[in-house]
Amino acid sequence: KDSYSITLLPGDGIGPEIMSATVGVLSALTSRCGFELEFAEALIGGAAIDAVGDPFPDASLERCLSSDSVLLSCIGGYKWDSNPRELRPESGLLKMRKSMGLFANLRPAKVLDQLVDASTLRREVVEGVDVMVVRELTGDVYFGTPKGIDVVDGELWSSFLAFGRDDGVGGGSGVGIFVFGSQSYSSSGRKRVGYNNMIYREDEIERIARVAGDVASKRSGRLCSVDKANVLDVSQLWRDVVTEVISSEFADVELSHMYVDNAAMQLIRYPKQFDTIVTGNIFGDILSDEASMLVGSLGMLPSASIGDGIGPGVFEPCHGSAPDIAGTDKANPLALILSAAMMLRYDLDRDEEATILERSVEAVLDMKLRTADIKQEGDGCKLVGCIEMGKAVAEVVSTINS
Ligand code: NAD
Ligand code: IPM
Ligand code: MN
Repeated sequence: KDSYSITLLPGDGIGPEIMSATVGVLSALTSRCGFELEFAEALIGGAAIDAVGDPFPDASLERCLSSDSVLLSCIGGYKWDSNPRELRPESGLLKMRKSMGLFANLRPAKVLDQLVDASTLRREVVEGVDVMVVRELTGDVYFGTPKGIDVVDGELWSSFLAFGRDDGVGGGSGVGIFVFGSQSYSSSGRKRVGYNNMIYREDEIERIARVAGDVASKRSGRLCSVDKANVLDVSQLWRDVVTEVISSEFADVELSHMYVDNAAMQLIRYPKQFDTIVTGNIFGDILSDEASMLVGSLGMLPSASIGDGIGPGVFEPCHGSAPDIAGTDKANPLALILSAAMMLRYDLDRDEEATILERSVEAVLDMKLRTADIKQEGDGCKLVGCIEMGKAVAEVVSTINS
C-alpha cells in the first residue's frame, strides 16, 4: 500500500500550531519516500463544541474509524472549563478513546543525549533513561459509575444507600438524621457529595497486561506493574490478574510490582531501574507527566493509543493544549512529530520512515535549535518558535541519509 488516509484532529490551544508544523514535516517525508498521506481534518474538543455543540461529534468518529490512522494534537482551554461535564473538551477526548476501543496508551519517555541537560534532574540520573509507560486508557475512575456531585438532604440521601464511605457516609444510614464524617446533620441540612468509582473488570486488566507483556518482551523483558494494592481492592484485582497473565503467557518477562506512591518517588530517584511500566488510567496519566521531566519537557513526549488492532489507532502527544502559550508560536511541536513517527510505525507499518522522522528530530537538536521549553540558559543553542522548529525538521527530513 502506498497511499493512506489520515484524519487530523487539531483541537484547541497550541493544537493547530503544532499540527501545521507536523503536517509540513509529513509532507516532506512523503515527497521524499514516495508514498502518499491524504489528510482530512475533523473536529474535537472546544473547537467542536463551538462549531457544532458536541466535543466529539459522530461525524468525527466516523471519519476517524474510516481512515487508516488518526493524528491528534490536544484539547481543552479555560473557555470551556465551567461547562457542564458533557460539554467539556475533555469529555470529547474520553469519548473518542472509548468509542474507538483504544484501551492501551503507550507513552515512551526516552532521554535523548542532546537534551540530557534540559531535565531538571542531574545528568547522571537521567542519561540513558528509556522507560515505556503502558497506560490503560478506557477504564478506571475515568469511566466508573456511579459518579457525580449531588446535594444530599433527607430525600436524596436514599440514593446513596447503595454505596458510600465506610466511615458512615452513605451505605445505609437512612433518611432523617445521617452521619457525615463524625458530625450529624438533620435532614433539612444540605451538603454536597462528589464521587467517582475506581473500577476494573478482569477482562480489562487481562488485555492491558497482554499488551504490556508484549511490549516488555520486545524491550528488555522487565515489566513493573504499578498499583495501590495495599489499600484498594480494585488494585488487588489488578495485581492478581497481571500476575496471572504474565506468568502464564510471557515466560520471558520478569514481572515486579510497586505501589504508585513509591513509583512516583523511584522515577525521580533512580529512573534507570525501570524499563516497561504497566498501570491503570489515572496512575498512568500522572506518572507519564512525571516521566516527561526526565526527558526534559512535556513538549517532547509522544504517545500511541491503540486497541485490538482492528480499527485505526490515535497518535497524540501526552501534553495538553498549553493555553498559557497558545497563539505565541512558543509551542514545541516535537511531541506531535514524534507521535507521527509512532503512527508510521504502529499503524502504517512504515518502520523505515518512522526512523527517518526520529533521526531528523535528533539532527535538529544536534543543530542546536531549541523551543523555549527545552532551552537552557547558556547552552549555546538558538531559541526558535514552533514554526521555525517545524520547518527545520522538514528540511532535515528531505535531506538526511536513510
Ligand atoms: P498542559 O499539558 O496543557 O500544560 C502544562 C505545562 O506544559 C504548561 O506550562 C504548558 O505551557 C507546557 N507545555 C505543554 N505542552 C507543551 C508544548 N508542546 N510545548 C511547550 N510547552 C508545553 O496541561 P494543563 O495546563 O494542565 O492543561 C491545559 C488544558 O489541556 C486543560 O484544558 C486540560 O484538560 C487539557 N489537557 C489535554 C490533554 C490532551 O489533549 N491529551 C492532555 C492534558 C491536558
Ligand atoms: C491526557 C490528558 C487527558 C487524560 C485529559 C485531558 C482527559 O490529561 O491525555 O493525558 O487524563 O487522559
Ligand atoms: Mn495527562
